[in-house]
Amino acid sequence: MDLHLVPDAEETPAERAAVDHVLGPPESGWDGGARHDGAERNTARGGHDARGRRHLLLPTLWSLQERIGWISPGGLNYVCRRLTIPPADAYGVATFYALLAVEPRPARVVHVCEDLACRCHGSHDLIAQLEERFGTEGELSDDGSSTWYRSPCLGQCDRAPAVMLAVAGNEPLERVVAPAAAPGVLSLLAGGDAGPEPACIPPQLGEGSLRLLRRVGRVDPASLDDYRAHDGYAALRHAFSLGPEGVIRELKDSKLQGRGGAAFPTGVKWEAVARQPAQPHYLVCNADESEPGTFKDRVLLEGDPFAVIEAMTIAAYATNCTRGYVYMRGEYPQAHRALERALAQARSRGYLGDGILGERFSFEIEIRKGAGAYICGEETAIFESIEGKRGEPRNKPPFPVVEGLFGKPTVVNNVETLVNVLDVVLRSGPGFAETGTESSTGTKLFCLSGHVARPGVYEVPFGVTLRDLLDLAGGVPGGRSLQAVLMGGAAGGFLRPDELDLPLTFEGVREAKTTLGSGVVMALDDTVDLPRFLMRIAAFFRNESCGQCVPCRVGTVRQQEALARLLSGRTNGGVARELAVIAEVGQCMRDASICGLGQTASSAIESAIGRLGVFQGGAA
Ligand SMILES: Cc1cc2nc3c(=O)[nH]c(=O)nc-3n(C[C@H](O)[C@H](O)[C@H](O)COP(=O)(O)O)c2cc1C
Ligand code: SF4
Ligand code: FES
Repeated sequence: MDLHLVPDAEETPAERAAVDHVLGPPESGWDGGARHDGAERNTARGGHDARGRRHLLLPTLWSLQERIGWISPGGLNYVCRRLTIPPADAYGVATFYALLAVEPRPARVVHVCEDLACRCHGSHDLIAQLEERFGTEGELSDDGSSTWYRSPCLGQCDRAPAVMLAVAGNEPLERVVAPAAAPGVLSLLAGGDAGPEPACIPPQLGEGSLRLLRRVGRVDPASLDDYRAHDGYAALRHAFSLGPEGVIRELKDSKLQGRGGAAFPTGVKWEAVARQPAQPHYLVCNADESEPGTFKDRVLLEGDPFAVIEAMTIAAYATNCTRGYVYMRGEYPQAHRALERALAQARSRGYLGDGILGERFSFEIEIRKGAGAYICGEETAIFESIEGKRGEPRNKPPFPVVEGLFGKPTVVNNVETLVNVLDVVLRSGPGFAETGTESSTGTKLFCLSGHVARPGVYEVPFGVTLRDLLDLAGGVPGGRSLQAVLMGGAAGGFLRPDELDLPLTFEGVREAKTTLGSGVVMALDDTVDLPRFLMRIAAFFRNESCGQCVPCRVGTVRQQEALARLLSGRTNGGVARELAVIAEVGQCMRDASICGLGQTASSAIESAIGRLGVFQGGAA
C-alpha cells in the first residue's frame, strides 16, 4: 500500500458504517465529520476527545475486517480521520496483526492450522489435498468468493487437525471446525455451513476431585442461574466479608503461583498493585493463549465463563480496580461469544457495574479481541495492543504493577490463575495449599495433545508424574512407542521416554531443566519426523518475533536457516559447526532479547539437540 495515496482514498458507505459501528457517528470536524460553520471553524473542539479514543483503533480495524473482509486504503483513511492517527502509524498497527488484511481478500476465508499438534494428526495431508483440489494458499475460488491460509496453532489441539472459518459481512461469522477433513474444508470454501458449535466436555467429566474444571460440561455456560445453582458467586460474597486485605492475605497464604508461564506469586502481585497510590488501577485477564499446544483457558472460557467473571471481580475488589479487560485471542470465537453472553447477564443482574451486590464497589469488564499475534500474550505487549499500538513488549522496569495499562498500576493474570482464586477464597489460603506440594500448591491444568488416546485438558494436583498424566490420557495409541514429550509448548522443551517419572511441579521441572510453561504436554510417537518438527518451531518464532530487538529478529532467522541447512544435509562446515551456531544464537537471544519470546525461542530446539540427540543420530 502506498501511504501517499491514503489521503486521497475515500471510504465506501459500507466501510464508513463499519467504522461508525464502533465509534458512533462523527461529532465534529476533528473526528472525520463535516466541518460546520460557527464555533468549530476557529476552535479545536473535539480534537482531544478524538485522540483520547486511540485505544479503539484495534476494535475499529477489526470491525472493517469482519464486515468488509479487509482494510482498504479508504477504510484506513477514514479510521485515521476519526481517531486523528497518522496513516503510517495506523498502517503499522494494521500490518502487525496476522488476522487483519491490508490487501484485498474475499469475504470467506478458511484458516488451516499447520502447527505442532495438527501435524501429528494429518494437517500435512489436509493441506496437500487443498493445494491439489482448490489451489495454493491465497488463491481464489473460481467465483472469487473464498480462499484459505495456513495458520499457527488455533488452540484446538485436542481436536486436531483444526480450521477456522471467517465470513465477512453485515453479520460476520467466525467458527472453528475441528477435527477437519479435506471434503469438509472444501465444502466450507464453496459456501457450506460449519455446523453447530461443539460442546465443551472435558475427559474427566464427573470426577469428584476436579476443582477448576468441576463445572465445565455440567453447568450451562449461558445461564447465570445455573452457575449460581452450582456454587457460583459464593466466593465473591465471601470475599466481600473478608475485605480487600483479607482476600490478599488468603492469596498469599495459598502460595498460588501464576499459571501463565512465569509462575509469579499471585498474592505478591496483587498486594503490589493494591498499594499503589496512583489511580485508577486496571485488571487484565490474559486470555491470549497462543502458545502452540495450549487450550486450557479456552475450555474454562467456553465451559465456565461466569467463573472467570466472578474471579476477575474478586481480583478487582482486592486490588482496587474499577475496570478490567479480557484480552482474548482472535481465534476463539466460541469462547468470545460465551463470555460476551455471560458478561451481559452479569451486568443486567447486578454482578457487574455500579454497587455490585449492594456493596460500595463498582467494576466493569470489556473484551478486547486479539488479531493473530502470539507476542500479544506477553503482559506489556497486551498493554500496547489495548492502547491501539503495535503489540511490541515494553522494557521493564517499570513493571506493570507500577506502570501498566495507560501508564497506571495494572494486575495481569492468566485465566487459569484467576479461576484458582475462587477456591482460595472458598477453602482459605492454607486450605488451598493442602493440595499439591510445599512449593507448588493446588491443582494444575495440562493440555494433552499429539499422540495420546484421549487428548484434552486434564486437572491433577501438582506432584503427579508425567507418566501418571500420560496414562490418564490413555497413553500412546495404535501400539506405537513414545519418541518424546514436548513440555510447555514451542517455548518449552523435550523430555525422553526414560524421563517420565518426573514429578510435575514448578520445582521438579526446574531441577530437570525443563518447564511446565503453559501446561502443554504433547506426546510424539515414533512416526514423528523430529527435525521437521523443529523446523516448524523455528518458523513459528521467526514469524512471531515482533522484530523490535535485533537478537530476536535476526536470531530467529539464523536459527531457522541453520536448521534448514542441517535438514538438507548442505551444512556450512559440518553438523557440529551448525549445532554450535544454533547454540551461540540461542545464547545471544537468551542474554540480549527484551522479552520472553526471544529468551525462549531456542529452548525447544536446543533441548531436542541436547536431550534427544537430534541431528546426532539419537538420544544424548
Ligand atoms: C511471548 C509470550 C507470550 C505469552 N503468552 C501468554 C498467554 O497467552 N497467556 C498468559 O497468561 N501468559 C502469557 N505470557 C506470560 C505473561 O507475560 C504474564 O507472565 C502472565 O500473563 C501473568 O499472569 P500469571 O501471573 O497469572 O501467570 C506470555 C509471555 C511471553 C513472553
Ligand atoms: S525478544 Fe523478540 S518478540 Fe520480544 S521484544 Fe524483542 S523482538 Fe520482540
Ligand atoms: S490447533 Fe493445530 S496445533 Fe493447536
